[in-house]
Amino acid sequence: MADQAGDPLFQSHDPIFNRKELLHVGHVPEEDRIVGRDDEIESVAAEVGAITRGDPPNNVMIYGKTGTGKSLISRHVATRAQSAARGNEIDCGVLYVDCSEANTETRATRQMALSLKEQTGYEENIPVRGVGTMEYYQHIWEILEDFFDAVIVILDEIDKLDNSNILMQLSRAREARKTSAYIGVIGISNKVKYRETLDERIDSSFGHRELFFHPYDASQLREIMRNREDAFQPGVLEDGTIELCAALAAKKHGDARKAIEILKEAGELARRTGSEGVAETHIKQAQEVAEINRIEELTSGATVHAKLALYALASHIITGERETYKTREIYERYVDICELVATDPITENGLYRQLKEQAFLGVIESEKTGGGRSQGSYLLHRLVTDPKHIVKAVRRDSSLEELPPYDRLADSGGGAAGRDRDVDLSSFS
Ligand SMILES: Nc1ncnc2c1ncn2[C@@H]1O[C@H](COP(=O)(O)OP(=O)(O)O)[C@@H](O)[C@H]1O
Ligand SMILES: [Mg+2]
Repeated sequence: MADQAGDPLFQSHDPIFNRKELLHVGHVPEEDRIVGRDDEIESVAAEVGAITRGDPPNNVMIYGKTGTGKSLISRHVATRAQSAARGNEIDCGVLYVDCSEANTETRATRQMALSLKEQTGYEENIPVRGVGTMEYYQHIWEILEDFFDAVIVILDEIDKLDNSNILMQLSRAREARKTSAYIGVIGISNKVKYRETLDERIDSSFGHRELFFHPYDASQLREIMRNREDAFQPGVLEDGTIELCAALAAKKHGDARKAIEILKEAGELARRTGSEGVAETHIKQAQEVAEINRIEELTSGATVHAKLALYALASHIITGERETYKTREIYERYVDICELVATDPITENGLYRQLKEQAFLGVIESEKTGGGRSQGSYLLHRLVTDPKHIVKAVRRDSSLEELPPYDRLADSGGGAAGRDRDVDLSSFS
């Protein structure tokens, strides 16, 4: 009998997930699961599509924040172009390079050469080390010449690449008689700023169009998640969970990747706690975990002093009555905290510079305020996120495990003692 075979230590059936792979980061959804990007798909296709008719393509740069579907749409269009080309007896290759990993010209060209070899019957050996960029280009041109009529090269997160020579090489290859294959480049950047530096870095040989992808709104995010509902067992997602997840994500960032990640994390939470369904509380908790992770990541390169300054500001906001605090107020509490964790404080000016850096990271917002004629102006700092999330993120730094609980902080000077809000301080540790 079936249940005799199963070891009771392992459930034979996942109570929450049905096809969890639909929620994996790298999952490329089928065409009918792609939502609200018809115009973008058509625009990208219009630039590179000439390849399918045996004509030269345009290059295109795609800009937009993370999670707006840039990678997905590029791969989707490239794959479709490849099969449309095949229908016209045109051999079109597709190369995808993640420049956040292959972040030098040598790494990027090596990856392209190896990937082309893999797609073809190219017999020459391509060494993975000990050779330079020129040799990789040589292989690329040869493979293109021997096996392809055209190729679409996706350079994802191109702003991470340490130089833009590769754009020049690719756009001049035909003219320079390196290969007769048509080459269409789709460059992708999360940073719109890259656009300015691109103009300085390249010459007119990389002629290109530009597209801008906008964040998703709540209804698009809802549909993106609805289309992956079958990642869960039937009936497990409670009413309103997807709506809540979409609303939270739309309000914060319009990032489809984060929305999907939160949905998945909510499922994990439900499973871990033995719940039968995924409820709104799971979404809220998952969202909180995601936010704490994000802050931890943002501040991971920051000094201990910057983290303590953040902690000081967060503690002021939690225990005080205001949302904004002066540099001096943050500094005073920071000095108190330093004493409690036996760390030598830096100067107020030094701390001020650290706060500015946090503003640069997007954790703090600072604003200059006129303090009246005699006082001069001063800076007011506020947190961009929930102070409790800051507290949790900072406490994850192993060197700050000794951070004191809040009640002791509020008592130790800093001016906030005695007017604590009605919060349960023990829940922050
Ligand atoms: N329009 C969409 N329809 C369905 N899923 C989407 C859509 N846009 C993005 N996604 C999903 O969201 C995640 C992030 O998309 P991605 O293309 O990687 O964003 P970007 O490259 O802009 O950061 C991926 O898992 C992707 O499958
Ligand atoms: Mg991407």
